[in-house]
Amino acid sequence: KVARVPLIAGNWKLNLDHLQAIAFVQKLDWTLKDARHEYGISGSEVAVFPPFTDLRSVQNLVAADKLSIVFGGQDLSEHDSGAFTGEISGAFLKALDCTYVIIGHSERRTLHSETDEQLGRKVVAALKHGLVPVLCVGETAEDLEIHGPSAVPVAQLRAALAGVSGTPNLVVAYEPVWAIGSGQAATAEQAEQVAATLRATLAELLGEEVADATRILYGGSVKSTNIAGFMRQPNVDGALVGGASLDVTEFASIARFQK
Ligand code: G3P
Repeated sequence: KVARVPLIAGNWKLNLDHLQAIAFVQKLDWTLKDARHEYGISGSEVAVFPPFTDLRSVQNLVAADKLSIVFGGQDLSEHDSGAFTGEISGAFLKALDCTYVIIGHSERRTLHSETDEQLGRKVVAALKHGLVPVLCVGETAEDLEIHGPSAVPVAQLRAALAGVSGTPNLVVAYEPVWAIGSGQAATAEQAEQVAATLRATLAELLGEEVADATRILYGGSVKSTNIAGFMRQPNVDGALVGGASLDVTEFASIARFQK
C-alpha cells in the first residue's frame, strides 16, 4: 500500500483577476507558513485553480518566490489546437507549469452541457500533456433520491475513464451537486461511502495499484469547521473547496488539518 499525500485544492471558479490572484497567493503562502510554524507540518499538498487569465501571474510568483503551492486550470479543451474559439489546450496549461486540471466540474456539465464522452476525451488530453486530471463526479438531489448515493458518480467515473489504460496519475473529486455552494455538506460517512465505492471501481477498471495511489477528494460546502471529519475517513484524501477557498485564513485553516 502506498501512502497517499492528501490534497487540499481551491477552485476559485470565476473569481479573482490576475492582480487579486498575486495578492491572494502571496498571502496564502505566508499564512500557510505561519500555520506550519504554529501547528506543525500538515503534510497536505495545497493547490489553487485560478481563472486562465491568472495562471501566468501565479506561475511567475510561485517560481520567483519558490512557493510550495501548486496550481492548475479549471478546464481544458479536448483539442490540442485549431479553430476552437475560446478554448485552452492541455499543452498551454502545461507550458504554464500547471500540475493539475479540473475536468467535469458539475458547473461545466450543467452550464456548458459537457457530456460524459467529451469528458472522457478531456481526461485523455490532460494525461497526454502530462497534467493530472482532477475528475469531478457527483449526483444531483434527484439522482440521489432515484438511484441512491453511488450509482451516478460511479457511472460518471466509468465513462470518463473509458479511454484510459495503464497507470495514470489522476485525482477523483466526489462533489455531490446538492452540496455545492449550498452550505449543506455531505456527512463524512456519506463521503466515505461513495469514496470507497469509487476506489473499488478504480480497482476494477485500472487495477489495485492505481486504485491505491489515486487520491479521492470530497467537495461541497467544505469549511474549516467540517474538514476534520472528512479527513478522518480512510478513503477521503482531501478536499476540493469552492467558496471557502476564496478566504485566505479560512482556506489555510482547512489546509492545516492532518490526515
Ligand atoms: O469545486 C468545488 C466546489 O464545487 C465546491 O464549492 O463552494 O460548495 O465549496 P463550495
